[in-house]
Amino acid sequence: MERDVIIACDFKNKEELFEFLKPFKGMNPYLKIGMEMFYKEGPELVRELKKMGFRIFLDLKLHDIPNTVKAAMEKLGSLGVDITNVHAEGGIAMMKAAREGLDATELGKKTKLIAVTILTSINDEVLHNELHVDNNYKVADTVRAYALNAKEAGLDGVVCSALEAPIIKEIGFMSVTPGIRLQGDSVNDQKRVATPAYAKELGSSYIVVGRSITKAADPVAAYNQCKKEFE
Ligand code: C5P
Repeated sequence: MERDVIIACDFKNKEELFEFLKPFKGMNPYLKIGMEMFYKEGPELVRELKKMGFRIFLDLKLHDIPNTVKAAMEKLGSLGVDITNVHAEGGIAMMKAAREGLDATELGKKTKLIAVTILTSINDEVLHNELHVDNNYKVADTVRAYALNAKEAGLDGVVCSALEAPIIKEIGFMSVTPGIRLQGDSVNDQKRVATPAYAKELGSSYIVVGRSITKAADPVAAYNQCKKEFE
């Protein structure tokens, strides 16, 4: 299974992103474009980055009724991104509809579809106290159940924390794991975190690294450190 480091490009605008990418010339990093950039710059930015040859994970985490998600995925599929995603909380029918939407275009057929299980900013307390998941089900149990749903819906993998990567590996699925921090970096709003080396040990397929690279004094060095630890 393919393994790589994906940089979470959470910037204010396109100018900041291109400034950040300058020193990466020739390195062809895998990029994650999320809500902040997509809502600011729109699909045009994604088309531009694809034309430049970047591999793109378009992280928009769709979550709505099946019909709406299907229609939205038809539009996103035409962008030809490498990976995109939905929330597993939308249920199996919604995940199947998302796949159907992508399959409506030739480019979309090639896009991998993954499902966010439980956000890495959520822990057992929040899951129980705020989301009202029965206390018998911890984050790990819920991640496993959602991953099995995603598999049943015909998806390619899930987003979870590296801490649950062994569960995903066990069921023979791909795990894309954010919540990655280089040793000594601040965890910020994340709650379930791991270093790239630990994520490798736990069996993550891809790690998503944002602030540990984008806010580093030397982003290229931080990226290389992640690659070295993870590959
Ligand atoms: O800066 P940091 O490394 O925390 O960035 C993590 C990125 O991964 C953010 O873009 C965030 O939206 C995304 N993400 C996450 N947890 C998930 C799914 C996506 O942190 N479960």
